[in-house]
Amino acid sequence: MEVVIVPDAAAGGELIATAIADLLTRKPDALLGVATGSTPLPIYQALAARVAAGSCDASRARICQLDEYVGLPKGHPESYRSVVLREVVEPLGLTADSFMGPDGSAGDIAAACDDYDRALAAAGGVDLQLLGIGSDGHIGFNEPCSSLASRTRIKTLTQRTREDNARFFDSLDEVPHHVITQGIGTILEARHLVLLATGEGKADAVALTVEGPVSSVVPASALQLHRHATVVVDEAAASRLKLADYFRATYAAKPGWQSL
Ligand code: GLP
Repeated sequence: MEVVIVPDAAAGGELIATAIADLLTRKPDALLGVATGSTPLPIYQALAARVAAGSCDASRARICQLDEYVGLPKGHPESYRSVVLREVVEPLGLTADSFMGPDGSAGDIAAACDDYDRALAAAGGVDLQLLGIGSDGHIGFNEPCSSLASRTRIKTLTQRTREDNARFFDSLDEVPHHVITQGIGTILEARHLVLLATGEGKADAVALTVEGPVSSVVPASALQLHRHATVVVDEAAASRLKLADYFRATYAAKPGWQSL
């Protein structure tokens, strides 16, 4: 696992946008897994700015969703499908044709989950999966004690996650209890995992993810099992890392030919 400590969220966004732009140069039709929440927005903004400036060609990129609420009406502005279309797909100049995600309004949720895992595999697998982290260490919507081998499936949100996400809704009551999420086993199949965490509120979860034991109680700690996982953190989110100085020195001395 590589840990990169950046001065702030904007620097994290630029760094990860560079990694995505490099990927799209190597593989123009790369399948990019995107996360929702506030944290990755600087990545999407940095990438969209490069596309607008003509320095990155994302015209053949494919975008896929990490997770989704269950039971919101189709087209609800806070469904993750709507959020990804609004924050990622449209700003990159793409259309819904380049996008895939699980159907949170399906009549048969279990079948929709299996269909999505099959669709990801049929698309050739995810090339780069962006991740945020919940304050309880969740990735996607894999809440604590999610199986590290899990596949895309329905999960029940913890009260803490519902409270964290209530800011996107008019009231806590409107936050769904159920979600579909790529499983941890599904996420680990992506070729490159890039987790961005910013702010002091993520410092404990980051320390447990990076320096704690691999444990389903901290789902993000599963990144330790991946051969190409990058954790990008700002100073506040890095503030509880015991090895912060080592991570800084390692990145400063990184060979120029190595990308993220
Ligand atoms: C939700 C999403 C996660 C995201 C998390 C943190 O739970 N399902 O993918 O990482 O929120 O969001 P934020 O970045 O806004 O703190």
